[in-house]
Amino acid sequence: MLRCFSCGGKWLKDVKDFDDDDDDIPIRSSDSSEHGSGRSLLSGRGKESSSQKGNMARSFTFRELSIATRNFTETNLVGEGGFGRVFKGHLDSGQIVAIKQLNRDGFQGNQEFIVEVLMLSLLHHPNLVNLIGYCSSGDERLLVYEYMRMGSLEGHLFDIEPGQQPLDWSTRIKIAVGAAQGLEYLHCKANPPVIYRDLKSANILLDENFYPKLSDFGLAKLGPVGDNTHVSTRVVGTFGYCAPEYVMSGKLTLKSDIYSFGVVLLELITGRKAIDLSRKAGEQNLVVWSRPLLKDPTNFIRLADPMLQGRFHVRSFYHAVAITAMCLQESANFRPLIGDIVVALKYLASQSNKKSSRGVARSPLPPSQSPSPLKHGSDSFSRDRDFGSFSSI
Ligand SMILES: Nc1ncnc2c1ncn2[C@@H]1O[C@H](COP(=O)(O)OP(=O)(O)OP(=O)(O)O)[C@@H](O)[C@H]1O
Ligand SMILES: [Mg+2]
Repeated sequence: MLRCFSCGGKWLKDVKDFDDDDDDIPIRSSDSSEHGSGRSLLSGRGKESSSQKGNMARSFTFRELSIATRNFTETNLVGEGGFGRVFKGHLDSGQIVAIKQLNRDGFQGNQEFIVEVLMLSLLHHPNLVNLIGYCSSGDERLLVYEYMRMGSLEGHLFDIEPGQQPLDWSTRIKIAVGAAQGLEYLHCKANPPVIYRDLKSANILLDENFYPKLSDFGLAKLGPVGDNTHVSTRVVGTFGYCAPEYVMSGKLTLKSDIYSFGVVLLELITGRKAIDLSRKAGEQNLVVWSRPLLKDPTNFIRLADPMLQGRFHVRSFYHAVAITAMCLQESANFRPLIGDIVVALKYLASQSNKKSSRGVARSPLPPSQSPSPLKHGSDSFSRDRDFGSFSSI
């Protein structure tokens, strides 16, 4: 995935060199030990962290990881990103893992490596990928994760191969719920809160049951504490997913992540990439293309991914679009909190489970959980139908 803002690209040899970039370092490394058993800088506000205290990343030798990947053979290669290449590996214990090898010529460097290790040593939730260990040996930097059999969400939404089954609507909603729960943990349960900064479909990994987990915490940053409303930082992230106010001012808030989440929802709804340079002018930036459609509920259906072939729960679809529009509000203050998004999406998931075919919805959203002033009674879609009550979005 194209990164428009580099995170520095420095190849830092030692942990102590981190002080070079004080402004952009989420956590200090002084208390990190080889086995990640240092004093915890983040204390979970939820039950997840206390229940997973023993779940610490361990240190691997380069030799162990070479053996696990059969010397990093191409046949074990499962993907490649800005950080480097990702290999499938088999540990001595029999466990299957994904091993990410830092590319020394890449833009992303040692800083992200250490932030990733520290963050994932301290943060634990079923919707965050599990870091099993790491290797820091000479110039080599590797990360060892639980293996996510279905790869990234990106691989299931775009450029579907002939014969590949597109994701159905209820699976898309389940993925949205899981990703939102992961974000809720970062925003509401981690203490201090963590701003993820790199939410995108490439970083939502899926297990064999399409259960989603957020990955790549190398850009994550501790959120504002006390009376502060934002943290100021160099702008990093992925083009197409960054909130406009963050790009303009460098002021980072939890609402920056909400905007990125809105872009992911839009990808789930449309099956289009956040940025797709192969499309004609005017359609290359997904948010720009969708803005006029998001403003007019009679156009919502034009957002639907053709791969869904109209097989979705209509009310659930409309509500999902409404939630998306709220997340993508230009004004950060008007974007919803992640806790409210989780409630609304869970409700949609329960509706999608009832029936995932076109046009049947048995009950409207309860007013207290409604993501928008939705008009009730629109059980089946009609292009000409009056959806005037959506106009407040
Ligand atoms: N834990 C994992 N299990 C299985 N496959 C993985 C795992 N982590 C990454 N991958 C695969 O490797 C690919 C590359 O992932 P990576 O995180 O390195 O790059 P990216 O997120 O696509 O891009 P970038 O790092 O530039 O933002 C993913 O799309 C996925 O297919
Ligand atoms: Mg990634």
